[in-house]
Order: sequence, then C-alpha cells, then structure tokens
Amino acid sequence: MDVTSTQLDVVDLTPRIGSEIRTDVDTLLGGREAATIRAVLEQRGVVFFRGLDISDQQQVAIAKTLGSVVANEGDDGIYKISLDKNVNQRAQYLKGSLFWHFDGSLQPYPNLATLLRAVKLSDTGGDTEFCNTYATYDDLPQPDKEAIADIQVVHSAERSQYYVTPEMSYEQVAFWQKSPTKVCPLVWTHQSGRKSLLLGATADYVVGMPVEESRALLARLRDWATQPQYVYRHRWQLGDLLIWDNTGTMHRALPYAEDSGRLMHRTILAGEEPLL
Ligand code: OGA
Ligand code: MN
Repeated sequence: MDVTSTQLDVVDLTPRIGSEIRTDVDTLLGGREAATIRAVLEQRGVVFFRGLDISDQQQVAIAKTLGSVVANEGDDGIYKISLDKNVNQRAQYLKGSLFWHFDGSLQPYPNLATLLRAVKLSDTGGDTEFCNTYATYDDLPQPDKEAIADIQVVHSAERSQYYVTPEMSYEQVAFWQKSPTKVCPLVWTHQSGRKSLLLGATADYVVGMPVEESRALLARLRDWATQPQYVYRHRWQLGDLLIWDNTGTMHRALPYAEDSGRLMHRTILAGEEPLL
C-alpha cells in the first residue's frame, strides 16, 4: 500500500490482508508513526513486527501510542494467553480461540485492536489465522448484501463453548448461560462508512429467523468470509509483535497442545466506536 513514511517499511503479505512493518523499537516507542500504523492496520487488518526483542513494559508503551490500553484487574496491560490452566485460570474459555471469532463480542464495544507477542512457541501447531471482514463484506453479491442489511445476531459465551465441549453437562450449560448474551448487527457500518461482517464462534442465532435457516446462514457467511483469498496465516517466530484490527477481522489459533508451553502476551486497545 501507499504509505508516506520515512521510518516505516511496509511489506504486504497477501493482496487482501496482512503486512509486515519493518522499523525499530525507538520509532515505535516514540509514537511518531502511530497514526500511520493505525492507518495501515485499518487497511490491512493485521500488521506485525519481527525481531524487535521487546519487554512487556515496552509492549504496553507501544500500545499506548496507538490507543487506550485496557488493563484487566490485577494486570498492567499484559494478559497471558495460554491453554494451560496453571498459567491462565480461564484456559477453558480461551479454548474457544481455536475457532473463528473476534474479541469482545460480548462487551458493549468490541476492542479496537489486540497486540499479541510470542513469548513461547509450541513445537507443533499454534499458528494464527486472520480473515478480513471488510473485504468479505465488500465482495458479497449485491442480493446477499440486501438480504442481510438489517439482520441482528445474538452472541453468547455458551455458543462458543459448544465448539470446545460438544456434549456439555447440564452444569456446564448452566455455568456458561450465566454470561449475558449480546445482540450485534450482522453488518457493522463503521464511522468511516466502511462495512464489515460480524460473525464468529459466539454468534448463536439470528433474531426472528427459524433455527435451521439461521444456522445455515451463519455457516454460509463464515465459509464465505474465511475463503483463502481473505485469510492471512501467521507463522510465529519468537518475539513477533502482531496487531490485528479487531473491528475488521476475525481470527483463530490453529490447534496446539495444552501442555505445549505456548504463551502469548496480549494487550488490548479499547473499542472507540459503537456497533451500528
Ligand atoms: C486472543 C486469541 C489467538 C492465538 O488472544 O484473543 O484469539 O493464536 N489468540 O493465541
Ligand atoms: Mn481472540
């Protein structure tokens, strides 16, 4: 893409999604290129930096140049992503990350973006895939765009857990049903005027549509959105810092063993626009 910057070298990895940005730690920490990085992120869905060798504190400092960092209780903007419950008590919920989703679908505002840094890798598996949900909307045939324009979808934590544990016990169902559900539009019209599709593992059913029709529609659109031309697969190297635009992409981790040691340090940027 055409980026006017002397400090950044942007290398597109596929036509529709994913760029490597080559720069140095000081440039990122200084924030001088933050507006350009945000613009590239919005256009390309995913950007990553390789070989920076940064600390947790530097990751958070870089994140702060790009937006407003969301700190969870008891952390300083670094959240450990691991499927090992000794490392993260919410490992069971995180197993849902192996299925296409966007982050914060149950929050009032979806997160703007997520930064992920590879701290330990799995010997096998554990790549992460991303698809561009702006491009997938843009390419939909016009009749589909018209048919889905006003559709609302109920998202639930319970739904995403059926992917992880297909035969949940009554207690498990009751547990996940305690998490409030959220209604999201299927088509998000952004303040920029661009539109993206909101799908993913938490997408449970379409409001007011017969169950079979609703499941068929959500599956058909997910198939459409995750076709190879919309997908970038990141093959992690230790220390990679990757950022995805959580408002215009979905992502999933490819399978890896719970005890593989794989560890990612995540920093979230707060959402800036409502779902309309
Ligand atoms: C996440 C997530 C994917 C991965 O952190 O939200 O989905 O590859 N991570 O760990
Ligand atoms: Mn995620």
